Amino acid sequence: MGWGIVPALPGVARAAAKLSGMQSWRASLLWFDPEADGPRPHFESDGLLVTAADAAGVQRVVAVGAYDTLRPRYSDVAVHDRRGRLIAPGFIDLHIHYPQTDVIGSPADGLLPWLERYTFPQEARFADPGHAASVARFFFDELLRHGVTTVLAFGTSHPGSVDALLGEAQARGLRCIAGKSLQDRHSPDGVRDETEASLRDTEALIARWHGRDRLGYAITPRFAPSCSDAQLHGAGALAARYSDVWIQSHVAENLDELRWVRALYPQDRSYLAVYERFGLLRRRAVYAHGIYLDDADRALLARTGAAVAVSPTSNLFLGSGFFDYAAAREAGVTLGLASDVGGGMSFSPFATMRAAYTVGRASVRGDGAAKRGVSLAATDLWWQHTAGAARALGLAWVVGSLAPGSEADFVVLDPAATPLLARRTAQAASLEEWLFALILLADDRAVTEVVVAGAPASHAFTEATPDLHGGRAR
Ligand code: GUN
Ligand code: ZN
Repeated sequence: MGWGIVPALPGVARAAAKLSGMQSWRASLLWFDPEADGPRPHFESDGLLVTAADAAGVQRVVAVGAYDTLRPRYSDVAVHDRRGRLIAPGFIDLHIHYPQTDVIGSPADGLLPWLERYTFPQEARFADPGHAASVARFFFDELLRHGVTTVLAFGTSHPGSVDALLGEAQARGLRCIAGKSLQDRHSPDGVRDETEASLRDTEALIARWHGRDRLGYAITPRFAPSCSDAQLHGAGALAARYSDVWIQSHVAENLDELRWVRALYPQDRSYLAVYERFGLLRRRAVYAHGIYLDDADRALLARTGAAVAVSPTSNLFLGSGFFDYAAAREAGVTLGLASDVGGGMSFSPFATMRAAYTVGRASVRGDGAAKRGVSLAATDLWWQHTAGAARALGLAWVVGSLAPGSEADFVVLDPAATPLLARRTAQAASLEEWLFALILLADDRAVTEVVVAGAPASHAFTEATPDLHGGRAR
């Protein structure tokens, strides 16, 4: 590969810190500046990535750059030789519902019938901790198979669903942020919660999980229609009290939903303004979809630092509409990519990135309003699923990059995993073309290894899938 090499970040001098368990990996390397508000790619065609545990035992990147430059400095460190492969940061999914793992591929006439017919009945099953634990195990196996190492995830309204998810993440050493869904109205029996208890449960979950190991808590009002004023008020009070806790919800996804919000909240200027009124727009707040925002909403997002989780496969599957990248970018909205499984069609970051490209090209929003079609670069799409998503979470320099200091979560990708991928990537004339071929053609077969906190997560690839069908006819 003979493309212009972007200068590597300088390696951290190994004498500067007390390090142990040092490892190194030789491969092509791709990563992005952690703090930039857009994609600033770094690429080494023959690179070396060096990781080690810091004084607190956290596995981090200590050096990244050209093999020839770094190897002499780390000549006594064992090398995992992965020449011919690409090492890149583990992908970050900015919005996903783990209880909807078994909802994928349930067709309906749009968001609201889909919630009622498929989603709420599945979520009601999470009252059973055994079911929650079993789905959590499968969920992380599936994420890791696809190279996703960090998620911001919805649980159900049952606090035990969060215990199951974060307990499983903790056992695997994963970075994971999750919350119990708040929904005290317009929700059926089995998933509807009770206002006071829901807020008490949220606070107890914050105390139990937030900041423990690599875990975080997200205050999770499901969406404005499912929450009473009292519940949103309580959520906002908790968000003010616990300022480093995350917030996650949905906004401006679907036209029927939008009409409903207008009827429920006639005093508010817009759907997003409801969340503003209750103190739910701030940094570390992530709102899924954001298709039907206007300029004032986008300015509000930019001003408050709240982010949008663009969820293109979900928006295509549910027929919700097409996200307006040009307008969001012009307004300075922080954004990143998400699968939104089970509305989303796939756990694969490659599927999400190619859907984002397709959605970007569209010149309508979904309600007939025109939008400017854009051609998102491959480096931009990749950034939105790694360092860009980390930035949206307020986790720049923590995950989503190979920059020195980042936690050692990364994927090893095979650019020749399928005959067509091999053929197409071999003919790429630039880094951009090469990454675009991967985005268009890769899937889980290209993810050959996943490293979580410096250790292989490969058990996820071999674990037997339980027979979920019982004796039922298929
Ligand atoms: N709005 C409220 N709940 C949901 C959900 O589970 N999925 C999606 N896509 N939108 C929602
Ligand atoms: Zn969602």
